[in-house]
Amino acid sequence: MTERKDDRLWGGRFERAPNEHFDAFQRSFAFDRRLLPYEIAVDRAWAKALEPIGIFTATEVKQALAALDKIAERAKTDPAWLEQFGADAEDVHHFVEKALVEELGPLGWKLHTGRSRNELVATDFRLFVIDAAAEIQRRLEALLNAFLLQAKANRNVPMAGMTHMQHAQPILLSHFLLAHAEAFARDITRLHHAAESADACPMGSGALAGNSFAIDRNAISRELGFSRITGNSLDAVSDRDFALDYLYALTGIATHLSRLAEDFVLFASQEFSYVILPDEYSTGSSLMPQKKNPDAWELIRGKTGRINGALLGLLTTLKGLPTSYQRDLQEDKEALFAAHDQVADMVAVAAGAIASTKFNASRLAAAASNPALLATEAADYLVHKGVPFRQAHDIVGKVLREAEKQNIAWTTLPLKTLQKISPAFEADFAGSLSLDAALASKKVRGGTAPESVRAAITDLEERLNKKAKKKGAKS
Ligand code: ARG
Repeated sequence: MTERKDDRLWGGRFERAPNEHFDAFQRSFAFDRRLLPYEIAVDRAWAKALEPIGIFTATEVKQALAALDKIAERAKTDPAWLEQFGADAEDVHHFVEKALVEELGPLGWKLHTGRSRNELVATDFRLFVIDAAAEIQRRLEALLNAFLLQAKANRNVPMAGMTHMQHAQPILLSHFLLAHAEAFARDITRLHHAAESADACPMGSGALAGNSFAIDRNAISRELGFSRITGNSLDAVSDRDFALDYLYALTGIATHLSRLAEDFVLFASQEFSYVILPDEYSTGSSLMPQKKNPDAWELIRGKTGRINGALLGLLTTLKGLPTSYQRDLQEDKEALFAAHDQVADMVAVAAGAIASTKFNASRLAAAASNPALLATEAADYLVHKGVPFRQAHDIVGKVLREAEKQNIAWTTLPLKTLQKISPAFEADFAGSLSLDAALASKKVRGGTAPESVRAAITDLEERLNKKAKKKGAKS
């Protein structure tokens, strides 16, 4: 039987030490050490709040703050110490208390007055999510800038717009790129929502019931940069909605990245040859010398699986948990940390790959000049001549069938043949039918006409600048 270790946070009522295997199993320091900067920040705020309620003297607060700063500094600069000293820390909260006691002696034991690891871990984790969301937002903004750069450089390159992977109507490549940008702009909104949901300070909730020392919750919350305090102590220690919201935002980003990846994997294939993969973001084959593979995109697409898995994992952990803190909640961190790291990399790699991709403008334009893409224009032409749309659709269908029978491009059918199908075709028809005219006609807001795309570029630039300005104003 092993002797009970005295520096555990909870050893008093135990006669025997935990089983070694179980002890290792229940520890979380290996991963929650990532929360150390937040733990220290919360400890600093707590130390200050202990003075007005008479637990710490002003001098003791100073001592505690100095010791906490020292611990933070040492953890940053002395990895060997972190490893060694952390070896028997149960979790990040235990680690700091142990280090504090080593620095200050018994004074270190006072810091935990009136508080619980249950509220600490919720607070640390909320602070992490707020910072994490801001980091991903910065990376998404770089990705949006990469789209803007390419949209501007290729503003008037036409391509064959598709639905059901079938040629549909001509669009501009810049319009296609900005479609992806819109999705990522929405992701920024989702990140904001996740950060907002994390932005409430649980400190003062205790283990579950609240705090009996009249601690100033608002002061702690303000000090930590939260804009509000949580409303119910029981909910505060068991709520992980902010983590779910963040994971949901990450799955949204990963889903959008994965769809972008799919487009570029297809576009890089020999069949499409719409894009030339940048060497910097491609790899070769160990066997086939000619290969240049879109691995950056394939990995992004592939990694989406584990991001979705992280969300599903936490949802499953939370399902059926009784109200209040349960140790199951310790399972909230690892997958979220990993999902955050992966998405941060995925967004950065995507931004680099987009910025350095070359578009095969002649190939895109050749596909865009497929006459089939103008069929809808012909129907629209007939509508302008007074034919009801459904009938116009039918007439153009007949025209296409006739061309198919003759095995020629339908746009080369003589006017006489067209007029046999419908007298509404007039001499101005041939002249009205062109790729440029088709593009130019889509000049509604949000459409693919060059002028609409120009407006969309300006609009996205303005939205990005506004975000940058807001951030500038904040700091
Ligand atoms: N390591 C724990 C976690 O991540 C901290 C809270 C532990 N609380 C407790 N009562 N055992 O959730």
